[in-house]
Amino acid sequence: MKEREGFSSTLGSLLVLAGSAVGLGNIWRFPYMLGEYGGGAFILIYIACMALVSLPILLAELALGRRSQKTAYGTLAALDKGGKIWKKAGFLFVLIPAVTLSYYCVIGGWTVKYFVDSCAMKFGPSVPASEITGAFGSFVSSPWETLGYHLLFLTLTCVIIALGVRKGIEQFSKLMMPALFIIMVLIAVRSMTIPPQEGVSGTAADGVRYLFSPDFSKVTPRMVIAAMGQAFFSLSIGMGIMMTYGSYLGRRENLLKTAVNTSVFDLVFAVIAGCAVIPAMFAYGMYDNPEMAVAGPGLVYKTLPVVFSQMPLGSVIAVFFFFAVILAALTSAMSLFEVPVSYLVESRRMRRPAACILTFVIVFAFGTVCSLSFGPLSEVKLLGMQIFDAVDHVTADWLMPVAGMVAVLFAGWKMKRSELRDELTNSGELRGVGKVFPLLYVLMRYVAPAGILAVVAASLF
Ligand code: PHE
Repeated sequence: MKEREGFSSTLGSLLVLAGSAVGLGNIWRFPYMLGEYGGGAFILIYIACMALVSLPILLAELALGRRSQKTAYGTLAALDKGGKIWKKAGFLFVLIPAVTLSYYCVIGGWTVKYFVDSCAMKFGPSVPASEITGAFGSFVSSPWETLGYHLLFLTLTCVIIALGVRKGIEQFSKLMMPALFIIMVLIAVRSMTIPPQEGVSGTAADGVRYLFSPDFSKVTPRMVIAAMGQAFFSLSIGMGIMMTYGSYLGRRENLLKTAVNTSVFDLVFAVIAGCAVIPAMFAYGMYDNPEMAVAGPGLVYKTLPVVFSQMPLGSVIAVFFFFAVILAALTSAMSLFEVPVSYLVESRRMRRPAACILTFVIVFAFGTVCSLSFGPLSEVKLLGMQIFDAVDHVTADWLMPVAGMVAVLFAGWKMKRSELRDELTNSGELRGVGKVFPLLYVLMRYVAPAGILAVVAASLF
């Protein structure tokens, strides 16, 4: 039998996993949550949510994947020796990433467009703010332009995946992740050192204070649920990604260490992104401006371009910033793309290039519908929302928690305890992991499922 391709090194594996975890959510959602939910207090709660809920699920997915040596589709069925119901559940792990990828690539396309625009100095000092913010609305509603950039971003993702697990995913992550990290650190330094501006009451230092000074009065059940939801989404769990990547991890890798390092990388990056985004917004008086978005696409594609246009050397920073956002989105999109491709290769016996093309076609077609929902299809409603929002809502708020639950319940309740222990300790070799195993087991069996339930219940009410 041909040996299964996997990642070649510990560092490479970490950068691949971190590449999936670090994405748009770290840039456009975490910074806002950090400031809004009490700074240092939020970080503490967020770390608790990660440790108690997300990390056990991540660990379960990695363990299941590596044990089965199958892509997410076949993981559970293989571990249950061909159980029929798990085969059906396997489809969930192909469907969710494929659907998510469809709309993720639309946003990826926007990022490419903003990178191109920043290279063309469209966010230069003489451009009025209203022109910059207005440009976003006209761009997303123009069908051909958005489709062109969408196609470009998806093609880029597809080419990297077609190159394979090592030469594509691992090699590119090793190049892109350090670059992403360095650029974000530089922008954060710039942002935090902006001198006070004439006519603006806030300063960069106010932004830093807002981000970090702990306010425990903001710790409410709502905040905890929001933190848990973000910790879940940010680690890319409940998608089959981590099972698939787990199956590419070497036999000697320490899964617990891998999972902890991935979580730490993800959190550190999110905090740095906060330092890059928030202080600059304070310094230019954008944070208390009700017309300016402080999170989501509005932050990245409207507010920040306006900030860049007012900053000395802002046009250069904009180029680097949008390049970084492309890298963050691309490494996440790669991880989504790999799951359906590996299913087609492994379970449908397709060759990798053919599997990539088929995935490309399906994802592009579905993504086009999502993309057009900002323009010609804006009147079409699903669940009372625009198509794009509905698809995002169903996958992120429903399907991902369900899939995460299936994975962690399988590890905690269906798999034999000894088998799970064996996988996590590399057959007993990792003594330290063996010692904490009872705790990890409790987290997987009870705590993490309860956490998922809480998030789902909260989104219901
Ligand atoms: N983790 C990514 C982020 O924080 C989003 C993502 C979720 C990517 C699921 C892939 C899969 O932006």
